[in-house]
Amino acid sequence: MATPSGKRILLGISAGIAAYKSAHLARLLKKAGHEVRVVMTDGAQAFITPLTLQALTGEAVRTSLLDPEAEAGMGHIELARWAELILIAPATADLMARLVHGHADDLLTTLCLASQAEKVMAPAMNQAMWRHPATTRNARQLEADGWQLLGPAAGDQACGDVGPGRMLEPEAIVDALFMAPLFKAPDAAPAEARPAQGLTVTITAGPTREPLDPVRYLSNHSSGKMGYALAEAAAALGATVHLISGPVTLATPNSVRRINVSSATEMAEAAHRLAGQSDVFIGCAAVADYRAANVSEHKIKKTTESDELTLTLVKNPDIIAEVARHRSGATRPFVVGFAAETRDLEAYAQDKLARKGLDMIVANDVSQAGLGFGSDSNAALVLWPASSEPHSPLGRRALPAQTKATLATAILDCVLERLEHSDTASSPIATTQNPKASSQDPQ
Ligand code: C5P
Repeated sequence: MATPSGKRILLGISAGIAAYKSAHLARLLKKAGHEVRVVMTDGAQAFITPLTLQALTGEAVRTSLLDPEAEAGMGHIELARWAELILIAPATADLMARLVHGHADDLLTTLCLASQAEKVMAPAMNQAMWRHPATTRNARQLEADGWQLLGPAAGDQACGDVGPGRMLEPEAIVDALFMAPLFKAPDAAPAEARPAQGLTVTITAGPTREPLDPVRYLSNHSSGKMGYALAEAAAALGATVHLISGPVTLATPNSVRRINVSSATEMAEAAHRLAGQSDVFIGCAAVADYRAANVSEHKIKKTTESDELTLTLVKNPDIIAEVARHRSGATRPFVVGFAAETRDLEAYAQDKLARKGLDMIVANDVSQAGLGFGSDSNAALVLWPASSEPHSPLGRRALPAQTKATLATAILDCVLERLEHSDTASSPIATTQNPKASSQDPQ
């Protein structure tokens, strides 16, 4: 993962069993390009060692307020000033209570009092402790004091109980952080002037790699250029953009959060995680249709007995169709697919639009020289259901050959028009009420 510019994050760890997940969280934050310094409470060290966090962050871990050696380096006030964000994960019930009362009896609470940084915590505790009126009061007070609380999630607990109190998974914490004001790029134009301001757009891009053995994989020639152009254009229009990228050699566009994946399975996992938080999901990736049924643990050797090698492949999940099927009310994004075809462009695109349950499809003819795969230019035909009725006519817009950058903006214009239309119409996405959608567009 990479964000446009790394932030200075102070990761506070308190004494919950979920502390073991904080190691993974520290790793994800580092991988995203942030500077991470860790402060652990005494109790946290019973669950995970400072050495683990030191190895993962490359920084000495601070555990004590009264450590002359550490204070001689970066004193606690200096550390409080250094942080742009304080993230406490896990935050125990006791730590929450102490923060509510402004205690400063250890390094972590002192830093929280002394720092002007943005403050976020991921509570984790037994479900009865979380439900206790005292914790409910404390959570409300912390929010009133400016803390952002992430979670907790509900489910099985380490103590055997089931209920709310599980720390959010590290990936979900990192996703949520990206939505925090600190992570937003400074606006070039006033917020209201940017048409996608307030929208979250998730885009898949590039190829996937399906391993066969430790040294070989199946993949395709997708360059990722169209998906990256869409990500750049969406960010320029003011959207919060998550770019789930297969292996490509492109630079991450400014203000875009990139999540690197390799296989279709990894891409599907990231897509499902982010789709529920997105207003728009655009599947631009060239996802491998099949993967090896069994990935060989060792390099597959040539044999002298036969000139043939048989590989058994199994179908990969159709990521976009799965996202589109998720019709859980407000959490389902507007879903846009791509169709790269060499013949019968419109017919195949129409079929894909219906079969995958998409809200829009961008079709391109990849047989045309100089356009599509690997090139910097592309032309497209955009189709969408003009009505939620089955077999209703399709809205249609032909976008002529142009650079992928300008085409990306034109595609996003189509998406924004449809979203605007669905905001004013009674049904959530596809409706007939807007004559603009189908009649205004060039045939
Ligand atoms: O079926 P086909 O691969 O032609 O569909 C293309 C569209 O479906 C693209 O939007 C692509 O990103 C998406 N797709 C997917 N998961 C797959 C295959 C395709 O999301 N396994």
